[in-house]
Amino acid sequence: MTHRPRTKQIHLAAHFPGVNNTTVWADPRSRSQIDFSSFEHLARTAERGLFDFFFLAEGLRLREHKGRIHDLDVVGRPESLTVLSALAAVTDRLGLAATVNATFNEPYELARRLASLDHLSGGRAAWNVVTSSDAFTGENFRRGGFLDRADRYTRAAEFVATARELWDSWTPDGPDGPDGSVGEPRPFAHHGQHFDIAGEFGVPRPPQGHPVVIQAGDSPEGREFAASAADVVFTRHGTLEAGRAFYADVKGRLAAYGREPDDLKIMPGVTFVLGDTAAEAQERAIEIRRQQVSPQNAILALEQVWGVDLSAYDPDGPLPDIDPDPDSTLVQGRVKVGDPRAVAEQWRALSRAKGLSIHQTVIETTSRQSFIGTPAAVAEQFDEFVRTDAADGFILVPHLTPGGLDEFVERVVPLLQERGAFRTEYEGATLRSHLGLPEPVRKG
Ligand SMILES: Cc1cc2nc3c(=O)[nH]c(=O)nc-3n(C[C@H](O)[C@H](O)[C@H](O)COP(=O)(O)O)c2cc1C
Repeated sequence: MTHRPRTKQIHLAAHFPGVNNTTVWADPRSRSQIDFSSFEHLARTAERGLFDFFFLAEGLRLREHKGRIHDLDVVGRPESLTVLSALAAVTDRLGLAATVNATFNEPYELARRLASLDHLSGGRAAWNVVTSSDAFTGENFRRGGFLDRADRYTRAAEFVATARELWDSWTPDGPDGPDGSVGEPRPFAHHGQHFDIAGEFGVPRPPQGHPVVIQAGDSPEGREFAASAADVVFTRHGTLEAGRAFYADVKGRLAAYGREPDDLKIMPGVTFVLGDTAAEAQERAIEIRRQQVSPQNAILALEQVWGVDLSAYDPDGPLPDIDPDPDSTLVQGRVKVGDPRAVAEQWRALSRAKGLSIHQTVIETTSRQSFIGTPAAVAEQFDEFVRTDAADGFILVPHLTPGGLDEFVERVVPLLQERGAFRTEYEGATLRSHLGLPEPVRKG
């Protein structure tokens, strides 16, 4: 018997917080962000919870603060596709998503690595295409930070299109017939603005046709790129109101590319804090925030916006009157969120309105707690977000590495299943099938 889902289905993914200030490092349960056992723990938990995929971010240069390597970065971060290849061996169904930059790589090489992961994992690979190409990161690469924003997205779009050409370049059927055959390579040629390449691709067509493509930029160019080329958007818009606006905006761009609203899934990155009662969850949330943002961290967070040394300021005192320096190089290697002067003004307004100190303002403005409550309340909110088109699902960022997802899988997933909003078993073998995405149309 086939049953129709009672309600719009929720998609779930697990974000491994690598180099990060989400993890409460002071918690005795916190473990390494490098050891394979940590990756394996989170991935196995996600698979036990029937999640769509496991997600790894990427940082291509260690961040700096006042000319010194950022504390958290000295622990380092392993390369995503390597980690995911190892995880492919200890999981069966879980999708494996790697963030990989389109500015500093080459299509042939990256398409080859992604196709290899897709083969090794039986159709579970995904690529989060990012473009972050500040000159600081670019210094680690041969050509430096050579692309401005508009060019980064034309390169990214051409990069993805070229990768798709390479994945499509093998014939569907080999000499031994369609079943079990890998097909045969055919010559490819791509002559474009950013890439001028020709030859034969070294890996047969991936089991998913094309690995799933995720996009994470937020500018109009980034959204347009998502509408034209992505299967999933990873977004920061994780509140009901902002989520609905973002959802409508991005889904509204799809028709121009001949795509249906369901062809692109919108998944905000969110955190959660659970408790047996609403009050207990709130208490835990406050405690977690206190541990994530020490008074010292608050000054550092402020310096990241202002771009000037603020070490003389009292974390328990008011925000600085001076304006940020938009051209500052005090902090390097972070994705800048908005115009620093506008952010500073916003923070000052909040602090004035609520009478908050520097420390309290940073706790409020950099808050990473999206869902706080009992398992039932969190399940209800997740369902509401998805039912009312504020999201198609969530990329969960736990505040403990690697055990932070355990409680969610044990206590919230069963409630989502009871509501008929989340799968009770994996139906297909590939990530594309978990996400309900169409087969990529084969060109050529
Ligand atoms: C939710 C989210 C997650 C991102 N994760 C990464 C990442 O892991 N690595 C990276 O280099 N850039 C990351 N980025 C940066 C984007 O790919 C993009 O380069 C940046 O946001 C600038 O593009 P935009 O102007 O379109 O926002 C992320 C962006 C967003 C919004």
